[in-house]
Formats: sequence, C-alpha cells, structure tokens
Amino acid sequence: MQHHITLSDIEAQDKIYRLNLINSVSGYKSAQLIGTRSEAGKENLAVFSSVIHLGSNPPYIGFILRPTTVPRHSYSNFKAHGSFSLNAITADQIAAAHHSSASYPEGISEFEKTGLVAETKAGTHIPFVKGSPIQLLCSYENEYLIKENNTLLIVGMIQELFIDEGLLLEDGWVQLDKGKIVSINGLDGYALPQLLDRFPYARPKTD
Ligand SMILES: Cc1cc2nc3c(=O)[nH]c(=O)nc-3n(C[C@H](O)[C@H](O)[C@H](O)COP(=O)(O)O)c2cc1C
Repeated sequence: MQHHITLSDIEAQDKIYRLNLINSVSGYKSAQLIGTRSEAGKENLAVFSSVIHLGSNPPYIGFILRPTTVPRHSYSNFKAHGSFSLNAITADQIAAAHHSSASYPEGISEFEKTGLVAETKAGTHIPFVKGSPIQLLCSYENEYLIKENNTLLIVGMIQELFIDEGLLLEDGWVQLDKGKIVSINGLDGYALPQLLDRFPYARPKTD
C-alpha cells in the first residue's frame, strides 16, 4: 500500500505539512553551519541544508539562499566580506546547530546563543565552529536568481580546508562517519549515516 499524493493534494495541505513533506522527500541533505562576520565585526552562524558540490577543479560549492525579502544576515555578511566558513555538524552539536536557525537580530551572535564556540584562524576574520571536524574557508563568487521562487543559488570557491586527523584517507577521500558528521532529514530531523561500502570507478561491462 502506497500513499499517492498529487500536486493539487500538496497545494491543499496546510503549510507545515507541505513543508515537512517536500523538504524530507528528496532525501538526506548535507548539514552545514555557515559562519560569517558582519561589517560591524559581529559573528554570525546559521544552519544550512542545501550545500552541494558544483565541481572539483576549480573547487566550487553552491547552496540555496531563501528569498531576501527579510534580512538574511549570512548573505549580507559574505557579500560584505567576500568569504564565509562551512562547518560540518557532529552528532553532539545538533541541538545547538538547529537553534542557530532562530531569527536573532543582527547585533546578536548565534555563537553566544547556541553555546557553539567560535574559532579564529590565522589570515582570516571569518569565524569557524570549534570542534567541527571539517571546516572550509570559502570565497563568495557569484549568485544566480532562481526565478521560479526568488531563491538564490550562491556559488562559492573552497580556499582552505581544515580536516580532523583520521578522516582524510590516503586517496583524498574523507570518511565522514569517522567524524560522527550528521545529515539532515527534512527541516528538523538530524541523522547519523553509516558507511556501507566504497566502489571502484564504474566502467561499462564489456561482456
Ligand atoms: C535544518 C535547516 C536547514 C536550513 N537550510 C537553509 C538553506 O539551505 N538555505 C537558507 O537560506 N536557509 C536555511 N535554513 C534557515 C536558516 O538557518 C535561517 O533562515 C537562519 O535564521 C538564517 O540566519 P541568518 O539570517 O543569520 O543568515 C535552514 C534551517 C534549518 C532548521
């Protein structure tokens, strides 16, 4: 027995049901905390589930930013400074990470409110999340308007990587489960994936 849901069923649903359904149905998402600093110097932190790989050479990443019809502090900050950090979320950080999505005024740092600790590194004023096993420093490169719903695809380039020892294997592959790095199920569920296997580069069968 399957549920069969049509577009008109979706449209008739209440907002929360629709939001839960559509956010979760497309699968597990990456869980990242974006760290930025405002022009006035205040740190900012927010959870994002839409970070994707765009290409490895040059190392481009992308993420979707909700419509800028309300103030988006991460957005104004990385536009002002030209950079942001991406911090993988660990199992013991999920409650604090989720709380970073609360809408605090610009002068309030989500680091202070969530208990997550800001880490600074040489050569940049951008804050990182202390204890995050993968921290990336990215430059803001470009943005593209998704006309259909007024969201923005933000394009960033990875400039520096900080990866905990033990996660980075000899062939460059990063084993996320060794760092207890979570993924996001919908808009409020956090899961701990388990590696099943790795495979060699797939080639067409010759027989
Ligand atoms: C699990 C989860 C995932 C989220 N993913 C995104 C996202 O991909 N893009 C986005 O614009 N907002 C996303 N948000 C909402 C932001 O975290 C929220 O708007 C936050 O207040 C933005 O902070 P800022 O104004 O300091 O940038 C997400 C929220 C949650 C709880």
